[in-house]
Amino acid sequence: MIPPPDASPCYILGLESSCDETAAAVVADGRRIMSNIISSQIELHARYGGVVPEIASRRHLEQINLIIGEALSEAGLTLKELHAIAVSSGPGLVGALLIGVSTAKALAYAARLPLIAVNHVEAHLYANHLTGAGIRYPLIALIASGGHTALLLMPEPEQIVSLGQTRDDAAGETFDKVARAMGLGYPGGPQIDRLASSGRPDAVDFPRAYLDEKARFDFSFSGLKSAVINHLHHLRQKKEELSLADLAASFQEALVRVLVDKTVAAAKEHHAACVLLAGGVAANSRLRTLLRSELAQALPAVPLYFPPPLLCTDNAAMIAAAAFPRYRCGLYAPLDLNASASLTPGC
Ligand code: KG4
Ligand code: ZN
Repeated sequence: MIPPPDASPCYILGLESSCDETAAAVVADGRRIMSNIISSQIELHARYGGVVPEIASRRHLEQINLIIGEALSEAGLTLKELHAIAVSSGPGLVGALLIGVSTAKALAYAARLPLIAVNHVEAHLYANHLTGAGIRYPLIALIASGGHTALLLMPEPEQIVSLGQTRDDAAGETFDKVARAMGLGYPGGPQIDRLASSGRPDAVDFPRAYLDEKARFDFSFSGLKSAVINHLHHLRQKKEELSLADLAASFQEALVRVLVDKTVAAAKEHHAACVLLAGGVAANSRLRTLLRSELAQALPAVPLYFPPPLLCTDNAAMIAAAAFPRYRCGLYAPLDLNASASLTPGC
């Protein structure tokens, strides 16, 4: 169903509950944010050093109706004025996803609106559509979050080819695990980012896994994680003086270098017209600066886009934005839609 050009805006309500953020947002025409409400559970999980799935589901259940009410009222719209309900249906924690999926199904049924299922990892890319970026194809996208690290090629809009992904820990997961070993809080990425700004990135030469030719766009961060943890133990055992800032900066440099080198190589090989960065780790200041400078040097005519930090981490505006092209093509989900813990991009 393609709306006529002079039609009034298409309002989609997006819901997100795949991990530890309960979020609802209204987006007009896949581009204009009318409201973007995020209730973070970080404080609830911080004492456990990571997300506890049962606690996450219960909190989503407590929050979701309140958050939807806020998103509609801030957008100045009622349920009847919406055009569709979109929901993140996977991947993620299945119990957490089910809260959003069940709520979206109930709303769609009650208001007789189309239901649109969105892949959470792909949706991270659409955060770049909310910032007025001049996106052109073919494009290369790096999605780096707490649960996923993937290098994607999009030859055309809505076409996704996976070039590579992590073989073990995701980039954000590595930040979180290293931060925990260093005694920093959860989530670890922002803490390491902050601490690294006053450290020396060349203080410790940590391993960087580039893998063999066949897997050149895959990632592996478990060796780096173990090396940092071993280094920490070694320093503590020998009671040597330990600069957490140097350690944070050296770890961050090793991880970010690999992300940047592989992204630039993929952009060259596939003649990218632009490069997109997305996911929670896209908020990392060193990743943003290094990718910008390396891309400008290797491919000066190819622009790099990344969302503001609030749209890098989990939110529902990206879910509503990702649903817009599906809405236009009439790609609706059935009312027996289920959550899926392990959806991959492009599925
Ligand atoms: O995309 P996201 O909100 O959730 C998932 O879909 O996983 O990403 C959360 C991840 C966490 O691992 C967090 O530590 C990381 O993104 N992160 C960062 C930064 N901000 C968030 N990692 C590095 N530097 C940051 N500034
Ligand atoms: Zn995410």
